[in-house]
Amino acid sequence: MKRIVGLLILALFYMSVAAQSGFTMWQIPSHVNTIGNSYVFRTDKGRVIVMDGGTKDETLFLKGFIAALGNEVEAWIVSHPHDDHIGALTAILENPQGMRIHKIYHSRFSTDLLNAEADAAKSTIEFYNVLDTSHIEVINLTKPGLTVKIDGLNFKILSVTNEELRINPYNNSSMIVRVWDKRKSIVFLGDAGVECGNKVLNSPYRKELDCDYLQVAHHGQQGCSEQFYKMIHFNACLWSTPSWVWNNDQGKGTNTGNLKTFETRRWMDEIGIKEHHVTWRDGLFMLN
Ligand SMILES: [Fe+2]
Repeated sequence: MKRIVGLLILALFYMSVAAQSGFTMWQIPSHVNTIGNSYVFRTDKGRVIVMDGGTKDETLFLKGFIAALGNEVEAWIVSHPHDDHIGALTAILENPQGMRIHKIYHSRFSTDLLNAEADAAKSTIEFYNVLDTSHIEVINLTKPGLTVKIDGLNFKILSVTNEELRINPYNNSSMIVRVWDKRKSIVFLGDAGVECGNKVLNSPYRKELDCDYLQVAHHGQQGCSEQFYKMIHFNACLWSTPSWVWNNDQGKGTNTGNLKTFETRRWMDEIGIKEHHVTWRDGLFMLN
């Protein structure tokens, strides 16, 4: 009898904890060990929201994941149009195979900005073309500040396209997005570079960069500055980072490449962050 009462108390405890959560988030690992940035949310009422979605090569896994949640996406948020962020979404829009997407939030690049990176322009144009013919409602954000509430999940846009920043132009036009419920907050930096991060740091949205979980910019290297990370407050890191980026290993051994991941990892140690969720190492991470 005592055992049954104990189990009932435990079940009630877990139910009450679950009831307080406005959403569940999954950090989606890459099944091909590449740099896709991909997060899926399910609200307390069962609606699905996606952040980015990863590369074209990662489409199959993402499609299966979304299908298992009902194959219907309430809102899809796009940080910026680099292929590792919009590749899977482009493939899905080209061939939805029954997936329904209600709204897409992004900050559209001008033709000038789009052409500022010759390598990226082709896939960006492909994405915009398929977006324009998709018949999906597209919310084009031209200034920060929009707050959206979907069931128990809230998100706020802290940064949009920075047309004036032509250093590292695509990454520096990453949308920075804060997502939260009553229990937790997450800030997604996308691939924000030094200038993009500092701009938000010096904006009215500075305080909203403080969070429980921080998606480390640009897959963990050459993103925001040391000063940026050391000025904001956060408790844990989300890394959408393949093994070769995490280890800075481009085929010749650990830390022999030209990536700056070890520098970012050192900053996090200096800040005192103990909780890290790394896609290549930890697989699927679920946050409730
Ligand atoms: Fe990226």
